[in-house]
Amino acid sequence: MIDQPSHMRPAPQPSAQVGLAALRAMLADHLNPIAALGVFHRTLGDVFMPKLGAFAPVILVGPKACRWVLTDAREQMLWRIEPQPITTLLGDGLLVADGPVHDQMRDFMGIGADAALHMQQVRGYADDFAWGARAVVEGWADGETRDLLIEVRRMALLGLMRALFAVDFTPHMDRLWKPILTLMAYISPGAWLVWPRVPNFTMPPARHAVDAYWMGIIAQRRAEMKADPDHPSGDMLSAFIRAGHPDTMIRDQLMTMLTAGHDTTTAALAWLFAMLAEHADARARLHAEIDGLPARSAFDMSQRQHAPFLEAVYLETLRLFPPAHMGGRIAAADLAFDGVRIAAGTRVFYAIYLTQRDPRVWGSDADRFMPDRVRTQPDLFRPYTYLPFGGGRRNCIGKPFADLMSRVIVTEVLSRYTFTPAGPPPHLHMGATIEPRPGVRVRLTRRAGGRTA
Ligand code: HEM
Repeated sequence: MIDQPSHMRPAPQPSAQVGLAALRAMLADHLNPIAALGVFHRTLGDVFMPKLGAFAPVILVGPKACRWVLTDAREQMLWRIEPQPITTLLGDGLLVADGPVHDQMRDFMGIGADAALHMQQVRGYADDFAWGARAVVEGWADGETRDLLIEVRRMALLGLMRALFAVDFTPHMDRLWKPILTLMAYISPGAWLVWPRVPNFTMPPARHAVDAYWMGIIAQRRAEMKADPDHPSGDMLSAFIRAGHPDTMIRDQLMTMLTAGHDTTTAALAWLFAMLAEHADARARLHAEIDGLPARSAFDMSQRQHAPFLEAVYLETLRLFPPAHMGGRIAAADLAFDGVRIAAGTRVFYAIYLTQRDPRVWGSDADRFMPDRVRTQPDLFRPYTYLPFGGGRRNCIGKPFADLMSRVIVTEVLSRYTFTPAGPPPHLHMGATIEPRPGVRVRLTRRAGGRTA
């Protein structure tokens, strides 16, 4: 039910004093903007409007508010905002499309057992994920220090490219590493929020390099499929070609999969390993559980039952560090939530991070890493209270993919190596996703007699 917008109050805005407290919180937390949002939430309530020049979004926190954005008011919310970097980069990509373009693409990728992101297909990607993880782990040596943020970024990139597009990205990794990171920085929150057309000189060459790669693999696959009418077309790239989509549309979707799928899984895994580095007890329990798994069960979607502690560590990591800490929309009509007016054209964000750390819901230890709460407080891990993958009709289409990839990568790494911290505990950095900075530096120890997946 949507409130009628008449006789409503405006969203509360921070006073100068609250603004100062928010600034102090940010400065005390490595310039983390979420620290400032936390102050606004505590002082202004579940709906508030911070202002940064012309950028004045309404932010909604809590299960009721998130449900309202994602389901009740869904039809009055649009995703696409122009100009903004992610729309420039992704064109008609699923993540930024609205209306029929969105719905057709979503059905194509997710509906039907042969759709590339359907659970049924995703089951078959486990070997690709394991291959990507092993390709990286095989380069490690006993006693070495490595940054697991970089290492999992490589694993996720190799696994994603092979599973979704049936390509081996290894020969392109070094050349395209920097351009990909440049594009992720381009879509991260920045000066464009207050100055939408701020010039950016690093993006065009990076985009050119990555686009050239996409166009190259599209052309090559077209040629292969033309030469061989029986060419397998189970992967997403071949399926797009077979369905007759033009190159530009295919490029937009490939770039979308990279943007939405790679940085997010990288952040989730990097935080998971950061938590394990910090919590020796959890690391030991997870090693014991993984060592006892029957061979290849990590590759099985039903591993949730076989490996409950791995599941708990994964879920708790996504609670504390949801890679997409907010979901953005634009109000397409005058709306109101809980007596607060939201004018048409206002940017609206539902706050995943703040909702998942709200002490009123999660308790006074909401900021602590406690995987056992998955078992002791199962009722809290329910839709809209716990929403790392969003909710409603625009929830994450890649969730089964991310779930399986994460499980396979964790199993591959922990069956071969253990580690201890070799750097300070990371702090949260808000980029395209929230990621651990300055990284997850660990000292690696090769395990003798661990389980081999
Ligand atoms: C741990 C990993 C991931 C997290 C935490 C995550 C999170 C999210 C969230 C919160 C949304 C909803 C955004 C909104 O409401 O505006 C979303 C949407 C989306 N995600 Fe993910 N994601 C992850 C992995 C992936 C992967 C692996 C893929 C692709 C292979 C993917 C593709 C997408 C796409 C295409 C959308 C847009 C769906 C639509 O608008 O219909 N994500 N994701």
